[in-house]
Amino acid sequence: MKSFKIDENIFWVGGIDWSLRDFHGYTTERGSTYNSYLIIDEKITLIDTVKHYLFDEFLERIKDVVDPSKIDYIVVNHVEMDHSGSLPKILKIAKNAKIITNPQGEKGLKAHYGDDLNIKVIKTKDRLSIGKDNLIFFQTPMVHWPDNMVTYLENRKILFSNDAFGQHYSSFYRFDFENPLDEIIYQAKKYYANIVLPYSQQVQTALNLLKDLEIKIIAPSHGIVWKENVSDILKEYQNWSKDPSKKKVVIVYDTMWGSTEIMAKKYYEFFENEGYEVVFMPLKTNHISDIMTEILDSSIIGIGTPTLNKQPLPSVSGFLTYLLGLNPKNKKFLVFGSYGWGGEGTKIIKENLEKYSNRVFLEEKIQYIPKEENIENLKNNIKRSLS
Ligand code: FEO
Repeated sequence: MKSFKIDENIFWVGGIDWSLRDFHGYTTERGSTYNSYLIIDEKITLIDTVKHYLFDEFLERIKDVVDPSKIDYIVVNHVEMDHSGSLPKILKIAKNAKIITNPQGEKGLKAHYGDDLNIKVIKTKDRLSIGKDNLIFFQTPMVHWPDNMVTYLENRKILFSNDAFGQHYSSFYRFDFENPLDEIIYQAKKYYANIVLPYSQQVQTALNLLKDLEIKIIAPSHGIVWKENVSDILKEYQNWSKDPSKKKVVIVYDTMWGSTEIMAKKYYEFFENEGYEVVFMPLKTNHISDIMTEILDSSIIGIGTPTLNKQPLPSVSGFLTYLLGLNPKNKKFLVFGSYGWGGEGTKIIKENLEKYSNRVFLEEKIQYIPKEENIENLKNNIKRSLS
């Protein structure tokens, strides 16, 4: 397993998780990588580690560059175990290495790996000389854990951004320009929508903190390294963290006997005629993490469910739980569904949405099978609600 030079004396020594298909409930159809970087200067510095089961290939890649026992500093930008999981093992080899992290990082590392750690605690804008170059640290709390920070290599102008700007994407090739740009931007968007979205305000704070840095390379801890498209991914993060909503509807539903699906299709026709981009996502065939990716830049979300035993269908309830956790801002909701007698399904979805948002603009339900007059009413009602 070889290292990969990302700049003079700076090497990627991470691990590639080709087979990963689930990252705590998020489908990772392209696998992922856990990126670690080695800086060869007077002080040999390692930035982050890899998930525990990729330790062997990580170690081989370090050995491709340097004797790992010679590592002086290990920067922990983030405690989550996909990045710190190999820390205990590498510390057994790099016995004199000092861990560099912020106060929340220190707390998190001790909670995970015990108190017996050699840690130098830094805070935002602290500068640490490693020889010819310096590391400057910027805490980015809650993007997406309290301990998150990014590290800037001052003279080389490289930002080691950890989770920020990352993508769950595995590839033999490490740079953005060696991979299909549409795909890596899509995977960065999926990452944002499913992991970073609740912390958009903190992303804005972090972008503001970094705005005066000249950045030549962004080296995140997942996916490819941004070199030729640095401004593109910065622009996307600005957009996603502000308000990316456009004239777009995502219709999400499940159905028992096809009646809620008839309603969903009628809403599709309605929004199409009104000039919206419509994305149709039945829950039987779409994963909630793919649905969230489409929701990120939508302005209206239609949620359809029949009633089953006085409840929404479990697939719709599961989607709603996921959606409410990610808490997308500036969306309007349409709730709809067919029912037999009680009709509690749509009511429960609406009530749950209203605990978080008062932007449910219409609840529409039809008993049993939609008839021509029901369809006419459905179209008239939504027209009225939207006007
Ligand atoms: Fe990639 Fe928050 O860990």
